[in-house]
Amino acid sequence: MIYSNKWALVTGASAGIGAVFADALAARGANLVLTARRKDRLEALAADLRTKHNVKVKTIAADLADTDAPPEIARVLAADGIDVDILISNAGFGLPGFYTENEWPAHRDFLQLMVTSYAHLTRLFLPGMIARDYGRIIHVSSVAGLVPGSAGHTMYGPAKAFLVSFAQSLAAECEGAGVNASALCPGFTYSEFHDVNDTRGLVSQLPGYMFMSPEPVVEGALEAVEKGHVVYVPGLWNKFTVWLMKALPRPWGAAMVKQQSAKFRRQSGE
Ligand SMILES: NC(=O)c1ccc[n+]([C@@H]2O[C@H](COP(=O)([O-])OP(=O)(O)OC[C@H]3O[C@@H](n4cnc5c(N)ncnc54)[C@H](OP(=O)(O)O)[C@@H]3O)[C@@H](O)[C@H]2O)c1
Repeated sequence: MIYSNKWALVTGASAGIGAVFADALAARGANLVLTARRKDRLEALAADLRTKHNVKVKTIAADLADTDAPPEIARVLAADGIDVDILISNAGFGLPGFYTENEWPAHRDFLQLMVTSYAHLTRLFLPGMIARDYGRIIHVSSVAGLVPGSAGHTMYGPAKAFLVSFAQSLAAECEGAGVNASALCPGFTYSEFHDVNDTRGLVSQLPGYMFMSPEPVVEGALEAVEKGHVVYVPGLWNKFTVWLMKALPRPWGAAMVKQQSAKFRRQSGE
């Protein structure tokens, strides 16, 4: 119960990896603040986790593509006297298509959610962590943040690469302050992610060994942040992919990613 009496804020807790983080943190004794847009999902999960783990759970419905959402979450928590000790920034989705196939508002909202909300929530809660000499921050990035950019899903890789570099900077700044910052870089993980972005038919053609369940992804991430590992890639296949892309000359890696993404586009009819 290493997180007894700590409060953990989990974004994107209504499904997938975020819901599993909520369960794993509660199993370690943490009280939870769960946020996402779907309030009914959050309430159902909160009721389940209160019963299962005997922890306090608060839910806040918020759209993190809205610039006002992070300060509003901080305001509500301050009013309730809740200090966030553990921040799991996880909310996200994928935006298929080439860059010019999506209008600017779609890209703007994507960046607000996938980059700016992560940075803003960290800015809001990190000072308290440093003052209390304790904090854990996990930014849910992706293998896509560690390999060359793909054609299609144009901003996904860059957004995830930002989170890797951001975690590295935070870890360097927080050394000795009791705060561990980490970027979790999963590969294909079973969740609602590919249903939401309508690529389920496409990715279900991939071999099963390329996929992980969210439970080992989350368990590994929590172990990694405790050990002070700044970049954590779960799973052998994902580790191999990242290693290969680093080992190959950069143009070869870029050509491989381009070829794979072109193949997927042909298969999906995009
Ligand atoms: N699944 C994969 O293969 C995979 C691989 C690498 C990285 N990731 C990353 O893992 C993270 C979690 O994804 P997942 O796989 O668990 O997907 P998921 O099952 O679709 O869950 C996504 C979560 O994000 C929330 N969310 C989406 N848009 C939001 C918004 N505008 N405001 C607030 N919350 C929002 C969703 O809740 P509401 O809809 O209720 O708002 C949901 O709780 C993402 O950052 C994703 O990029 C996933």
